[in-house]
Amino acid sequence: MKIFLDSANIQEIREINELGFLSGVTTNPSLVAQEKGDFHQMVEEICGIVDGPVNAEPLGISYEDMIREGEILAGIHPNVVVKIPICEDGLRAIGFLKKQGIQTNATLVFSANQALLAARAGARYISPFVGRIDDIGNDGINVLAEIISVLDQYALDTEIIAASIRHTMHVTEAARIGSHIATIPYKVIKAMVKHPLTDLGIAKFVKDGEKYLSKS
Ligand code: E4P
Repeated sequence: MKIFLDSANIQEIREINELGFLSGVTTNPSLVAQEKGDFHQMVEEICGIVDGPVNAEPLGISYEDMIREGEILAGIHPNVVVKIPICEDGLRAIGFLKKQGIQTNATLVFSANQALLAARAGARYISPFVGRIDDIGNDGINVLAEIISVLDQYALDTEIIAASIRHTMHVTEAARIGSHIATIPYKVIKAMVKHPLTDLGIAKFVKDGEKYLSKS
């Protein structure tokens, strides 16, 4: 499973990118709104940091706005993937942008049927929102598993991105059931690195190393 960072924060993106495992970035209007500066410049800067897909979402929601803004975003850098919410206008926009050679990520996906339609319309990526499904008392990982098993049966050029990841177990589960990608918030990536036994082990090795050095 490839790891994307779910963030529009340049410092976070730089820091996580330096760890060497990052394959891409996802942003959305809510993440962009938390940052200062021009949206398009932000996208350009992220593309200059990460060597992989950088997902950016048009701010308008009509078909006309999505294709207009989608073309502008895609013109910023060849790695830009345009995020399109799954709805009737969104499906039309996905088809239109594909014909222009622009990759899209169908976002706000909550069911296998939505995923199937987005894949058939030509979405390069599909983002089921695991955490938001949990939030309303359903099982987000189950929905993700259903989407994976449906799309796996057909030779579609679509990768599934486990999105709306809330904690480390979401990541483990997404990897266990074969999600192609997980897009993970900064805090969750930091938590994935940590294990109390690793901390204890490092402390003991440091202490024993010092003991050895003091004898020599
Ligand atoms: C992914 O592409 C989305 O930007 C993100 O994962 C949404 O997560 P949230 O439900 O925590 O807002």
